[in-house]
Amino acid sequence: MILRNWCVALTISAAAMTSAIAQSSFPPSPNASRYAPRLVEVMNAAQLQHLKLSFAGKSKNWELAAFELRQLTDSLAQAAIFYPDIPVSKVTTMEDPLLSVADAISAKDSRKFAVSLRALTDGCNACHTSMARGFIVIGVPAGQQSPANQVFAPVMRP
Ligand code: HEC
Repeated sequence: MILRNWCVALTISAAAMTSAIAQSSFPPSPNASRYAPRLVEVMNAAQLQHLKLSFAGKSKNWELAAFELRQLTDSLAQAAIFYPDIPVSKVTTMEDPLLSVADAISAKDSRKFAVSLRALTDGCNACHTSMARGFIVIGVPAGQQSPANQVFAPVMRP
């Protein structure tokens, strides 16, 4: 449920987006407010989070998948906050796919996860196309190498 709320926060308003970011357990230093990441930096982070989300879900590591989904949601919120020329409506259309991924993770449902990740990915590409960036095409990684320095299988903890 909390994961779902996190995704909803993305869509409400710029103020809600700021609070979504403030929920991180690592608040930034006040000096950081003077630093705005470049939009491509935010998007490159989103790309890696999308990739990790995909591998975590495929590995049924639902805890990691939930973590990556929160990071990805925050990245999209960040893009909207720092770059007001991105129409908020284009970010809010990501709400439904983000929520279905959240629901799939909560339900630990691999099939629903695969379907909703596809829809989320279509959402990335729809925005790129609508903003004259149709040449940036995101896909769902299929059987490719995961980032090799991170373990995606769930780790048994006492
Ligand atoms: C609301 C619109 C929007 C959404 C949604 C969006 N993007 Fe982007 N993305 C952009 C824009 C605009 C650029 C181009 C930035 C520029 O030209 O400086 C971009 C650029 C990128 C790039 C290119 C960075 C590079 O250096 O190669 C990647 C990768 C990317 N986005 C990934 C994603 C992923 C993954 C998602 C979905 C999880 C996503 N984007 C969702 C608007 C969006």
